[in-house]
Amino acid sequence: MRLKIAAANWKMNLSLEEANQLMTNLMSNAFSLSQHHRVIISVPFPYIIPVQEHVKGKEGFYVAAQNCANVNNGAYTGEVSTTMLKGLGVQYVIIGHSERRMYQQESNKLLAEKVDKALEQNITPIFCCGEALEVREAGTQNSFVEQQIKDSLFHLSADQLKNVVIAYEPIWAIGTGKTASTAQAQEMHAHIRSVIAQAYGADIADAISILYGGSVKGANAKELFAQPDVDGGLVGGASLNADEFATIIRSLP
Ligand code: PGA
Repeated sequence: MRLKIAAANWKMNLSLEEANQLMTNLMSNAFSLSQHHRVIISVPFPYIIPVQEHVKGKEGFYVAAQNCANVNNGAYTGEVSTTMLKGLGVQYVIIGHSERRMYQQESNKLLAEKVDKALEQNITPIFCCGEALEVREAGTQNSFVEQQIKDSLFHLSADQLKNVVIAYEPIWAIGTGKTASTAQAQEMHAHIRSVIAQAYGADIADAISILYGGSVKGANAKELFAQPDVDGGLVGGASLNADEFATIIRSLP
């Protein structure tokens, strides 16, 4: 069975005190996770160590970074490398979130380099893709997302690609309260899987977890995660509320 993943994306939110409180509340829940479940909390860099304390010894829980550099070390003021993340024991990193593509002008080529840096350190990239509203309205979302994936991931070997998690996040659904319908999510996820199957074969395509992101909340998670090609979610706003995120975790099939 593919890994089913509930990934929180805190973005640039919460004071340290609020972050600790949120984790205390979240971890006070009794979760019965199976072998094929992962809960990944993606936090701002300064919170990696404190949040790791909360999930220490909790089977299935991981702390992720929200970004990494495309180079190892050196004169790159303000950057954080995957070698540094590895040193902290980080095992996942979000790469190519639409907010970084938009505000930091991250290109598909740069993201390909970041994916390489993550994999070099055995850190799993959570690679984000997704179209803007104009693209959806023009009906070209499938080819748009396909290109993002090809440009940033298809230089990888099959063994490397198997270690990537993909998150489909339509930009028009992020933080807007407007969720893609389950049919829209399933259609794109199936498309992504078929593009991978064409290039790498069905076995590789079947092994890759594809998460949906964009206004996932407790009330819609179960239905979204029940779609055959939706393997969980990347959750922004609702992950800042312990009860909501706990419900989302429990919605994993
Ligand atoms: P949202 O954000 O759940 O607040 O829509 C999702 C994301 O950007 O990862």
